[in-house]
Amino acid sequence: MSNCNSREKIDGQLAIEGGKPIRSKPIPEESPGIHYMGDKEIEYVTRVVKARSPFRFYGPDVQHMCDRLEAKFREIYGVDHALGVSSGTQAIYISLAAMGVGPGDEVLVPGYLWPSCLNGVVRLGAIPRLVDIDETFTMSAQDLQKKITPNSKAVVLIHMSGVPGNLESVVEIARKSNLHILEDCAQCNGSTFHGKPVGTFGDIGIFSFQINKSVTAGEGGMIICSDDHLFNRCFGIHDLGYARNNTGILMDTSCDERYHLWGCGARMSELTGALALAQVEKLKQINSAMRSAKYRIRKDVEQIPGIVLRKIPDPAGDTGAFLITIYKDGKTCRQFTEALKAEGMTGRGYAKPCITMEEWGLHWYFNNKSLVNKKSLHANGWPWSLSENQFASAYKYARGTLPVCDDLASRAGLFKIPSCLTDDDIEDIILSFKKVANHVLR
Ligand SMILES: Cc1ncc(COP(=O)(O)O)c(C=O)c1O
Repeated sequence: MSNCNSREKIDGQLAIEGGKPIRSKPIPEESPGIHYMGDKEIEYVTRVVKARSPFRFYGPDVQHMCDRLEAKFREIYGVDHALGVSSGTQAIYISLAAMGVGPGDEVLVPGYLWPSCLNGVVRLGAIPRLVDIDETFTMSAQDLQKKITPNSKAVVLIHMSGVPGNLESVVEIARKSNLHILEDCAQCNGSTFHGKPVGTFGDIGIFSFQINKSVTAGEGGMIICSDDHLFNRCFGIHDLGYARNNTGILMDTSCDERYHLWGCGARMSELTGALALAQVEKLKQINSAMRSAKYRIRKDVEQIPGIVLRKIPDPAGDTGAFLITIYKDGKTCRQFTEALKAEGMTGRGYAKPCITMEEWGLHWYFNNKSLVNKKSLHANGWPWSLSENQFASAYKYARGTLPVCDDLASRAGLFKIPSCLTDDDIEDIILSFKKVANHVLR
């Protein structure tokens, strides 16, 4: 497109005020892996079905899809152990259980999160302690330092929206206080921090294969670590509480007594393993498509006065899945986002590629009503009511608890970068940002 043509588009009347929108077709769905589903996925899943062996541990002709998936994770992440599980949520629960988290303990969790990170803590009888974020939209090292107490047992470091934040500082503080570190890499599969893979800075890393993630099997999760003891605990807890022998049979009487535990039935099926394996083989390609599109858009958006971009300490490790923009106040953010939508920055059906972060629901601590209201699965109010947990009776979770989260939630915008953007799509996105800025931020 000629510069003159672009200039006209940028200067034209805003679509929200009756002008011609930059684009009329929807932005493609954000779910990165689905755009790459094809023959490989069909081949691997078909093999499992033809072999009539959907259970990973035994069957007439096991295809070892879960084993292969775990081997791929060990290779990508350079760890000794990987364990496929039924979801990222269960991966968090299992990992914290393996670390021995329970009543009397608190687990430090950032306020920009996903409910799964709270869920695992509360289901184990422990207490979540909220930590604020910084301009990276991940846990603030300074606030972590302030929040650690004698009851702190572990920290869940969440690499939110495709990017690790000030990872090394957070890890250093946690280590000095002898806290276990769980890295939640559900939104950051394939990412690195200064060349070292995420998930390998702490004690355990977890991943998710839910549909919104870089690679997907619809459902599923992965746990990685290099500590034999933690891994053996994770194994028993993910299954039926016992180890299995090399023919896949439960070692209920013969396994090491340290690993006689309680399982939560979160095994991975061979069908999930097959889909996830086919997808993980394309992980680099998928992330690199998102990253290259995002940084082409970012290069132009960062020139716009009035927009500040999320701080990214190591752009080379970004998966590229999200572009976060920050405005001077909530009103400007809402105006800008609504105007972008009117220019055609919308998706089909469930897909919402362009939103204010105020619309980002359960990603913010204060929208998790079960947390805010200290809900229990039991009528006795467990775990909040436990005598061991009375140290936390004054903890608050409503909006107002974390000032930086509250502020950024109110004036940041989120653009989800699909893994299949064409040059024309990228140009439309850039032109929309420039056009709206031309009018709204002038
Ligand atoms: C940061 C984060 N942690 C955990 C999860 C939980 O994963 P799952 O949906 O596989 O249970 C998700 C995604 O859903 C997530 O975004």
